[in-house]
Amino acid sequence: MPAKLVVATHNAHKTDEIREIVGKFFDEVLDLSSFPDVPEADEYGESFEENSAIKAFGASETLQDAFILADDSGLEVDALNGAPGVYSARYAGADASDADNRARLLEELTKSGAKGKERSARFRCVLTVVKGDETFGVFDGACEGIIANEEKGDGGFGYDSLFIPEGHCETFGQLSGEVKNGMSHRGNALAQFSEWLESEQ
Ligand code: IMP
Repeated sequence: MPAKLVVATHNAHKTDEIREIVGKFFDEVLDLSSFPDVPEADEYGESFEENSAIKAFGASETLQDAFILADDSGLEVDALNGAPGVYSARYAGADASDADNRARLLEELTKSGAKGKERSARFRCVLTVVKGDETFGVFDGACEGIIANEEKGDGGFGYDSLFIPEGHCETFGQLSGEVKNGMSHRGNALAQFSEWLESEQ
């Protein structure tokens, strides 16, 4: 396996989480903050897979000889036909805050009339690993749950205070980071990547 992995993000939180899980397989795990020449990728894809590949190949155009890992994630709500999906970060508009997006989600679900188990949803995260123009792996992680009737807890980010994972009564916003990472969509996709790295040793 390669000595260096570059994560196609400027989000230091994501890089730390990824380094913690797969860092042992690499000499170095860096992100785009170390490579200011890599342009910001436009997320124009219609699926998490597409957007994750766009981000990975966007970075590999500049960083030809590095292994690149990119992720794309979001929330799919069944009663809203999979929305907000790839638009999770901008559900309430281009400059919307996380709070605006959560308010819109509650509003749309109230309009839909969905109650209890009809408010089923899942977080998804797709990781793509590339080098140059070759794809080495695509890892798809999901976490099933339901959308609460109101916000609960102030931990985490995004839709965490509205998402109750299967088998729990509390939202991700109320559960500890450790509990969330152990069952989350990102944790799940990273575990698959880690297993793949193990098998390549
Ligand atoms: P991105 O993959 O970082 O672009 O994330 C897209 C959007 O999905 C974020 O802005 C959040 O709104 C939402 N999202 C992704 N993962 C999570 C999570 O673990 N908790 C809460 N919201 C999330």
